[in-house]
Amino acid sequence: MKSIVIAITGASAMQIGERAIQVLLENYQSVNLILSKGAYEVAKSERSINIPVEPNAQSDFWRKRLDVKSGKLTCFRWNDHSASIASGSYKTKGMVIVPCSMGTLGRIASGFSLDLIERCADVHLKENRPLIISPRESPLNLIHIENIKRLATAGALIVPPIPAWYTNPQSIEEMIDFIVVRLFDSLGEDFNYIKRWDGPIK
Ligand SMILES: Cc1cc2nc3c(=O)[nH]c(=O)nc-3n(C[C@H](O)[C@H](O)[C@H](O)COP(=O)(O)O)c2cc1C
Repeated sequence: MKSIVIAITGASAMQIGERAIQVLLENYQSVNLILSKGAYEVAKSERSINIPVEPNAQSDFWRKRLDVKSGKLTCFRWNDHSASIASGSYKTKGMVIVPCSMGTLGRIASGFSLDLIERCADVHLKENRPLIISPRESPLNLIHIENIKRLATAGALIVPPIPAWYTNPQSIEEMIDFIVVRLFDSLGEDFNYIKRWDGPIK
């Protein structure tokens, strides 16, 4: 089975990335996971979570934290440049970066493949495979906007982490699920966790 690459970077809203991993594993998917160096720092300072860097320990950490036994999860270090997913010859269904910091976004936009996330995104663009980027910053400055435009022009799909209001969400979890399912809609996966628009309320 081809895997989906999930990248979590050092931006707020790591909860969305976590839920993305959980949804994929619950649905028996194969997940290749990369956290940027910044993601570990944000997890610690924003959420008091210490995420293990070592891949096997991290995989155990997520399995326990997300309480999911199904699917396949492979974790990678941010600086593992010889990883399978660093090569275009390794086939994937696509890559989702959620949340995507402006730092990572800018480096991908300039072709500056310093860490594994940037290299993997570069590979998805060059191989013409789906690259879904969910940028998290507010307000956006002109450099952010120009980088987003550059990536959209190069073939990335920009899906900001914005929930829908027409579903009348009752919890943050419901809002997160909407964002996550819409991210995977863009990859052609259909996960049945949300209410979809079905015309005005009768
Ligand atoms: C608590 C915290 C929250 C942050 N939130 C954001 C954010 O929402 N968006 C963003 O672009 N940067 C944010 N940053 C800054 C990035 O983490 C920083 O620029 C980092 O170098 C990004 O590294 P990365 O792109 O390798 O993940 C945040 C930093 C901290 C400590």
